[in-house]
Amino acid sequence: MDSHTVRQKFLKFFKDKGHKIVPSSSLVPEGDISVLFTTAGMQQFKGYYTAPENALRDFGTKNVVSVEKCVRTGDIDEVGDDTHHTFLEMLGNFSFGGYGRREAIEYAHEFMTKELGLEISYVTYYKGEGVVLKDEESKKIWEELGIKDIREDGADVFWGPTGDEGPCGPTTEIYCKNANGDDVEIWNIVFNEYFCDGSREKLDQGVATLKKLDTLGIDTGMGFERLLATVQNKKNNYETDVFNSEKTREERIVADHVKASLFLISDGVMPSNTGRGYVLRRLIRRAVRFSKTPLAKKVEKIKKIYEGVYALDDRGEIQKEENKFRETLEKGMKEFKKGTDPFVLFTTYGFPLELTLELAKERGTSVDVEDFNKKLAEHQKLSQTASAGMFKGGLANHEPQTIKLHTAHHLLLAGLQAVVDKNIKQRGSNITEERLRIDFLCDHKLEDVEKKKVEDWVNDKISRGLDVVRREMPLAEAEKLGAEMEFGAKYPETVSVYFIEDPAKDGASKNGNIISKEFCGGPHVKNTSELGVFKIQKEEAVASGIRRIKAVLT
Ligand code: SER
Repeated sequence: MDSHTVRQKFLKFFKDKGHKIVPSSSLVPEGDISVLFTTAGMQQFKGYYTAPENALRDFGTKNVVSVEKCVRTGDIDEVGDDTHHTFLEMLGNFSFGGYGRREAIEYAHEFMTKELGLEISYVTYYKGEGVVLKDEESKKIWEELGIKDIREDGADVFWGPTGDEGPCGPTTEIYCKNANGDDVEIWNIVFNEYFCDGSREKLDQGVATLKKLDTLGIDTGMGFERLLATVQNKKNNYETDVFNSEKTREERIVADHVKASLFLISDGVMPSNTGRGYVLRRLIRRAVRFSKTPLAKKVEKIKKIYEGVYALDDRGEIQKEENKFRETLEKGMKEFKKGTDPFVLFTTYGFPLELTLELAKERGTSVDVEDFNKKLAEHQKLSQTASAGMFKGGLANHEPQTIKLHTAHHLLLAGLQAVVDKNIKQRGSNITEERLRIDFLCDHKLEDVEKKKVEDWVNDKISRGLDVVRREMPLAEAEKLGAEMEFGAKYPETVSVYFIEDPAKDGASKNGNIISKEFCGGPHVKNTSELGVFKIQKEEAVASGIRRIKAVLT
């Protein structure tokens, strides 16, 4: 059975059992910004566990099935062995009040043994702890299905939550023998019975609490690459048809990282020095370091594997990043051997800290991580001041996306004043390629409807294609106009002010037709139509009376 057949078999099996087939979501999660990447099949369905009634509305059924693209970087050091990857696919069936333990376990059993012809070597169930009882019901169902080896287990069989909070619960896992004769975990069936008000870490520390959900939810996950190796009776995942029989650790790292990079780029991530972009940069640079030849051939081979299954158009980003890094890799390696400061290796030679750490480990030397982090924090503070959008040179980073976010930042401030409170004042800002951040004076947490109204207001200005105009004028004149200034900043005699004017009458706006005027060093886009879709990701308190919004353009 080739990879395509296994995917199709899985989807069809659950479709025939009343599940709606839902496509994989993006690797960049939409609803939950507390996670960097989609790491589990349930991620795109997270909200349905607490509001199961929405499933019927959105899917026409309470049960769904998917093959989800996931990126997990927690095990990156393990990549190169037989089974660990940074990119993986997860087969999963999910139910939001449609069925419970019995069906979930019986479906999994039927699919494994009848559809795939695998033999289950053993299963596990949760032993119970605190408010969560021992899972006698799952144990009994497995017994009825004739499974002989049923093992009680602890924390490993309690799953979730992902991110800052969310659904979680006890699980039952299914193990099979692989071609090496080892038992490997193939399928994880989670019974989402609880909502945890903190992260998994907090739960384990005992500082988060579990609240019983009204409706039991089902969340199952089957690691596709591992399943495939078992079905195809291969000794490692690289011998299956989603790889090219990579043999050495180095070859495998290259294949894995190029694959993950291609998928990330397809979902809109770009190499950069922060957040998701940093992970991508690290993956590409790591692949370059382990590859004796240019990555282009590998890129083509991987694209071929997924032809017709996923669209993998890499826009040449891997190539660009590779070129950038190869230019300095050799010089950087020389510097590394001389014992050059890791922070200089990072800023001058593009060595992510993790790369320096790996190299040091290989050579049995040590790295002063604390010192690196201290220097990085200072560096970031400097560039934050520089990118505050005010005079000190304006934006530090002139990447097109940062410039767009800068203009969106002006619109957002204006939108807050128009929609929420005309007295709102900016108290801080920071703009990167990924998102904008604004701190502002406001006496209350924004309601969801307020956030929505602000978003709509900004998106309306974007869709109207308004010109963004820069004018230089004497400081006194700009002050008289009431242009937004940075609190506590000192301005020169002549200043530049950015105006955005909406020819349509806008009664809500504080400034009439001029919807935005700010003291600003720029740069900005020429017209708001260049921005894309504006979205608020998060609104939170930073201090008493000061709120913070993070927002993006998609
Ligand atoms: N969420 C669980 C996992 O990722 C089951 O899908 O393992």
